[in-house]
Amino acid sequence: MKTLQVKLGKEGDRSYPIYIGQNLLSKPELIEPYVTGTQVLIVSNVTVAPLYLDKVKIAFAQYDIKTVILPDGEQYKNLDVLNTIFDALLEAKFDRTCTLVALGGGVVGDMTGFAAASYQRGVNFIQIPTTLLAQVDSSVGGKTGVNHAKGKNMIGAFHQPRCVIADSDTLNTLEDNQLSAGIAEIIKYGLIRDMDFTAWLEENMQKLLDRDPQALAYAIEVSCRCKAVIVAEDEKEKGVRALLNLGHTFGHAIETSAGYGNWLHGEAVATGMLMAADLSMRLGNLTEHEVERVDNLLDMASLPTRAPHHMDYDHFIELMAVDKKVRAGKIHFVLFKTLGDAIVTNNFDHNLLRETIEAHRAIDGQ
Ligand SMILES: NC(=O)c1ccc[n+]([C@@H]2O[C@H](COP(=O)([O-])OP(=O)(O)OC[C@H]3O[C@@H](n4cnc5c(N)ncnc54)[C@H](O)[C@@H]3O)[C@@H](O)[C@H]2O)c1
Ligand SMILES: [Zn+2]
Repeated sequence: MKTLQVKLGKEGDRSYPIYIGQNLLSKPELIEPYVTGTQVLIVSNVTVAPLYLDKVKIAFAQYDIKTVILPDGEQYKNLDVLNTIFDALLEAKFDRTCTLVALGGGVVGDMTGFAAASYQRGVNFIQIPTTLLAQVDSSVGGKTGVNHAKGKNMIGAFHQPRCVIADSDTLNTLEDNQLSAGIAEIIKYGLIRDMDFTAWLEENMQKLLDRDPQALAYAIEVSCRCKAVIVAEDEKEKGVRALLNLGHTFGHAIETSAGYGNWLHGEAVATGMLMAADLSMRLGNLTEHEVERVDNLLDMASLPTRAPHHMDYDHFIELMAVDKKVRAGKIHFVLFKTLGDAIVTNNFDHNLLRETIEAHRAIDGQ
């Protein structure tokens, strides 16, 4: 087992560990230091609970456990479904010392985290991520929230977990496209600040797709370390943390336009990253060869690189205008200075943006 620390707070008083390894779900000694109170609510969903809830209950056996099983899907990441968590907490008379546990992918993690952030103005919570995306990204860093019909993740709060338990064995039951979606966020870390890791991914992509435990553990560790360092530097996204949104301004527009659940988050981010690379090339920062390198890497991971045909320039602009990356009415993008070095900017030519969008629309009928 590997342990990484997310270092937060003045004296490190809000720091927390990320445990990465195999066979970690049923270990009481791992979670015990991070549980407050005696009441524990485990939140999962209809897909993950039958696979892993019993195992996780073993770890929490000494506490008074309640469970909430949510429907499965991004389309349920909303205030109505969130309310069912509050219903369960209030029905069971959970007090402010209770602990919430998120067992599932990013959807369960974001919703449970937001429930923990707002129940009685904030209670303790633990993340047990079970998708690759959640293990390398959403479970770390304290962003929580739900979607609104008019925009993704528009309602939320920062609320850090007390610990994160990433058991790579859970990835064996994951669908292939979900594995690839997680790899998209892994590729992101390399592209924004670590070209050695990018080169490693180019060499080892097939191992990740084959779920080689060593390769997965390495990729999860490098990704979590990258995210932990960035979050420690800039917890509330006033600066460098925004780089983690590479591909997300385009990606969120695709997700919103396609309808929640039709494109996976990581798939939309993959297409968005290639569009960001393309726009960077049009601005003179990347060569055509470098854009091809990004394209090939995404291709190797079986990720899509074309936005839906119906998404023209006006449509993208309309959707991107409600994205959280909009500040003072201006759309901000994460673009490349060079490969392996990204910046946030609102300084781009709209004609070039139009060219990028046109170059990345799927041909009609696809
Ligand atoms: N908070 C953050 O910083 C942050 C960062 C990135 C993404 N996100 C959010 O995360 C969400 C996407 O997360 P996701 O990709 O994990 O999606 P998800 O939570 O929808 O999980 C994907 C699918 O895999 C299933 N699943 C989960 N674990 C499984 C397992 N071990 N075996 C088999 N099936 C399993 C789920 O039930 C679901 O059907 C989005 O809502 C996105 O906005 C948040
Ligand atoms: Zn993301």
